[in-house]
Amino acid sequence: MPVDMVLHNAKIYIRGRIVEAGLAIDEGRIIRIAKETNLPPASTKLNLKGHVTLPGLIDSHVHLRNQQLAYKEDFFSGTAAAAAGGVTLTIDMPNNKPVTMDSISLRERMRLAERRAVVNVAFYSAFPQKLEEVPSIVKEGAMAFKLYMSEKIGGLDIDDDKLLLQAFNRVAKMGVPVAVHAEDRKILETKRREMEKTGRKDVEAYVKARPPEAEAQAIKRIVQLAKKSGVQVHFCHVSSAVGLNAFLTAKKDGLPVTCEVTPHHLLLSLEHLKRYRTLALTNPPLRTRKDVIALWSALKQGFIDALASDHAPHTVEEKEVESVWDAKPGIPGLETTLPLLLTQVSEGRLTIADLVRLTSEKPAEIFNLRNRGCLEEGNWADIVVVDINRKYKIDSSNFYSKAKYSPFDGWSVKGKPTKTFVNGQLVMDEGEIVAKPGTSQIVRWKG
Ligand code: DOR
Ligand code: ZN
Ligand code: ZN
Repeated sequence: MPVDMVLHNAKIYIRGRIVEAGLAIDEGRIIRIAKETNLPPASTKLNLKGHVTLPGLIDSHVHLRNQQLAYKEDFFSGTAAAAAGGVTLTIDMPNNKPVTMDSISLRERMRLAERRAVVNVAFYSAFPQKLEEVPSIVKEGAMAFKLYMSEKIGGLDIDDDKLLLQAFNRVAKMGVPVAVHAEDRKILETKRREMEKTGRKDVEAYVKARPPEAEAQAIKRIVQLAKKSGVQVHFCHVSSAVGLNAFLTAKKDGLPVTCEVTPHHLLLSLEHLKRYRTLALTNPPLRTRKDVIALWSALKQGFIDALASDHAPHTVEEKEVESVWDAKPGIPGLETTLPLLLTQVSEGRLTIADLVRLTSEKPAEIFNLRNRGCLEEGNWADIVVVDINRKYKIDSSNFYSKAKYSPFDGWSVKGKPTKTFVNGQLVMDEGEIVAKPGTSQIVRWKG
């Protein structure tokens, strides 16, 4: 019996090396990686024409919206954007309408995604009001809990450290991580009141209202709770030098903490915010060049665990408003992450090994995504083929995301995802989505 598919004439990234070989896929899995002559006969044969072939990206920070926020993004548009960007698995954030915060709301999102998604989707849950419900949320398949320290989303009073500790203890028992948006609510509130009193409505006032200290303070608070509970903590979108230092202190102490950084915090700073105004508004906000340098330095030293897009789509009308206090924060990133990072590789600021580690291998490890994150026999065939020499300009009007804006619009990039395979199925081919909605998998936590 022939296998389902053979991809041949590829340059495959395997454990730190690019190898000229082919891949045989059967029932969604990679069953053989070998020179072409040693591959089994296949129903479909595809010539990858010598292109670099990487594990599909695992984006651990994505807001797919849907439900009452479907006007911003839905499971099809968001996962089509993922496929176009070479992302084969997204972990969906819980700040939805309704908020994902119990087994019922989680099950409903899984049901909707199952019918509409074209890449694999896993889910975060916010904390429930009743902590006894934590186990049922994990049994339903939540990959992790998400805790916002900047505002109350979900059932927990975030000002109450005792309660947070109880929550962390529960989660530690279940073995799943807690991902944290680390900005301290009280600091934000005080600063915002100060800024609003001045009557300012500009983006720089917004940045002043969300200072790096708010990030550092929240990280320090969470680290104390991580120490007491032993829970695995993943810090989302670390943005500042002081925040990073607070994180690194905990990491060097040997605590089970990881962090992610976004492409926008690595590639943009306050100058860009002044230019693109509310279109580039995001939480935590863009920072100074010094902060950006600190992020790069930590990344090069291997202290950053993951890169994630924080794809946070809104409508252009919600972004382009007069007063910064009315603007929705968030940048769509699924379709720009890989081209931007490949450009960094071509410019020598990042190696292919860094890229694969930060966007596939480590996210799979942090979120316990078994048989994913690298191209290996037995693993799911989640694959992105890239043309590392293709030069073009980012154009958000071509996005599959409903959020057709980007602070990277017009940027020249080098490196383009040309084919995306999800569980062995070709989903994106030369920019076109070629799979039917609902053909991917809902990925659930397996203890
Ligand atoms: O910029 C942001 N946008 N930060 C968040 O924490 C939420 C996100 C969103 O959902 O739009
Ligand atoms: Zn966040
Ligand atoms: Zn987010």
